[in-house]
Amino acid sequence: MRTRLSHVTIRGVEQSDCELVQAVADDWSGSTRCAPLPRVLFEHFGPTGFVAELGGELVGYLLGFVSQTYPGEAYVHAVAVRPEHRRRELGTALYERFFGAAYEHYCSVVRAAAAPADLPTIAFHQALGFHLEPGDGESHGVPVRRDYPAVGESRVQFVRCVAELHAIAPLLVGDRLAS
Ligand SMILES: CC(C)(COP(=O)(O)OP(=O)(O)OC[C@H]1O[C@@H](n2cnc3c(N)ncnc32)[C@H](O)[C@@H]1OP(=O)(O)O)[C@@H](O)C(=O)NCCC(=O)NCCS
Repeated sequence: MRTRLSHVTIRGVEQSDCELVQAVADDWSGSTRCAPLPRVLFEHFGPTGFVAELGGELVGYLLGFVSQTYPGEAYVHAVAVRPEHRRRELGTALYERFFGAAYEHYCSVVRAAAAPADLPTIAFHQALGFHLEPGDGESHGVPVRRDYPAVGESRVQFVRCVAELHAIAPLLVGDRLAS
């Protein structure tokens, strides 16, 4: 697993991470409205959530789950990296852990969403190999699903096939990142 951040540890999310993550979520998402991060994500979706720590401090998180409706699909509800640690492959490393978890749960497709004005998050997902899904509207030059996640809002939706993970699965194991 690659990262330009030395000594970062990525581990599975725990229930006790809830308050800490909730406390930074709005700050880290800036002008982009952060999706609500209810405690249920920490209590009932532990195997598909990850936090990144540097010197014991939280520097990133990714919270996702395996779809109960669509077999073989996993969904990333939220991903964020502490602003001063961005562009060092930490977001990529969090996603690599999630792809590994998706693989372990027999998923071949990963989906995510972002606000259409959130150009950095869109560029990030495209860099990770996600495609923009066709929507029922357009905003800021990208296709969006309207009235999602709530009436009056819209999101660009991403999809990425992770079936190729079967070939690289052994690389996705391990808690500590190489420095
Ligand atoms: C999106 C985010 C998670 C990316 O994390 P990160 O650790 O900086 O991402 P990485 O370093 O792994 O970036 C990988 C690639 O994605 C692309 N990318 C990442 N940030 C980008 C940006 N701001 N602009 C353009 N491309 C970007 C680049 O191609 C980058 O590779 P490079 O640095 O070699 O050019 C981070 O910017 C973030 O936390 N944004 C706020 C997200 C948010 O609001 N979350 C809460 C609601 S869900």
